[in-house]
Amino acid sequence: MFKRQEISSLDEIKLPTLQKHGYAGWYRKVSSESYAVDPWEAYKLVLATSSSGCLGTLQNLFIKHCSISESEFFDVFSEQEREWLIQNEIVQETEKRWSSKYCLLVCFGFYLFVDWPEKSSNEKLVSSQTYLSSSSFDCIHSIKKYSASNDLFNTLDVGCGSGLILLQLSKISEKVFGIDIDTEAVKLSRINLELNGAKASLVNSDVADYLFKKAGFDLINVNPTWRIVPEGVNYPNPIARVGVGNDGLDYVRYLLKALPSLLSNAGKMLLRVDIPLSEGAKEERYFDLKRYLPPQYRFKMYPLKKVSASQQCRVSADTCSYLNPEIDLSDLVRVFETKYRQLNISGLQEIECVITLK
Ligand SMILES: C[S@@+](CC[C@H](N)C(=O)[O-])C[C@H]1O[C@@H](n2cnc3c(N)ncnc32)[C@H](O)[C@@H]1O
Repeated sequence: MFKRQEISSLDEIKLPTLQKHGYAGWYRKVSSESYAVDPWEAYKLVLATSSSGCLGTLQNLFIKHCSISESEFFDVFSEQEREWLIQNEIVQETEKRWSSKYCLLVCFGFYLFVDWPEKSSNEKLVSSQTYLSSSSFDCIHSIKKYSASNDLFNTLDVGCGSGLILLQLSKISEKVFGIDIDTEAVKLSRINLELNGAKASLVNSDVADYLFKKAGFDLINVNPTWRIVPEGVNYPNPIARVGVGNDGLDYVRYLLKALPSLLSNAGKMLLRVDIPLSEGAKEERYFDLKRYLPPQYRFKMYPLKKVSASQQCRVSADTCSYLNPEIDLSDLVRVFETKYRQLNISGLQEIECVITLK
């Protein structure tokens, strides 16, 4: 039996003042039902409330994106905490006022620093740089579901983003690995691991260069970059969001081919991905997984939500409208619709897929 990491004990977290003032309990209570469904919907509810005292100061700094005075900064954080915040460039000082580079969410019992979100034109909040969305939450739910009865030694999150998945993996596995091509994502993952008193090995690399160096993972989580974005349209953090190849799924095909060098014999890969649907195609044909999966593997696919092409085009246009101010929003939607029509994509099926050896 492997010893699992115990995390979030009071003296291990880097900002014990959060525990002292009940930040996590307050965050969860205020964000109520959205808490386990969508990080930005939950954050919106927390943003809409007000607190007083030290919790109010923490809320101003980490939720409301306001600066706090030097005396508030010294009152609320110990010397050790201030040092950690400054060394990691989480806070900065201007004219004796302190502000934070990140907002501080609470997700599934973990504290999570993430870039301040952007507001789209329909008031939806979206991640600006480091990716976090409801699909990250789907991954947490499926890790909980598919790892309950297993003893895990090595686990991996391919494209670890904010580090949220690594935090969950660190609760159930002896050794955790995270890889991301984005230097900022790796930095944020490290900060979030430290903040929660958890450990993982982090690699800043293209997964393609790393695949053959590490092997034998008992659980691999993949929430790949996927979005289809027309040429000439700017999209936030394209490396985290815009897929490779015509249908955006080349990266997934690549990972599937590499499975024998990645998974242990009893290992599982959990894949959370949006699959483009073609008009008239049967559901089981929507992603030709079999063609790319080495013959010794099998998969079970579970459909989540279905989204029409027009809904997706609106969401995508809305997400990037602030980066394309010269294009009117309705024209931007049309640019996406034209691209989807060219590719004969009638909608998307969100899926959760479990891959194991036969
Ligand atoms: C959709 S995000 C998922 C983040 C995180 N796993 C989660 O679910 O919240 C995809 C992540 O993959 C990373 N990524 C994209 N291409 C990559 C590559 N070739 N090698 C390694 N990481 C990559 C991006 O930087 C991004 O952080």
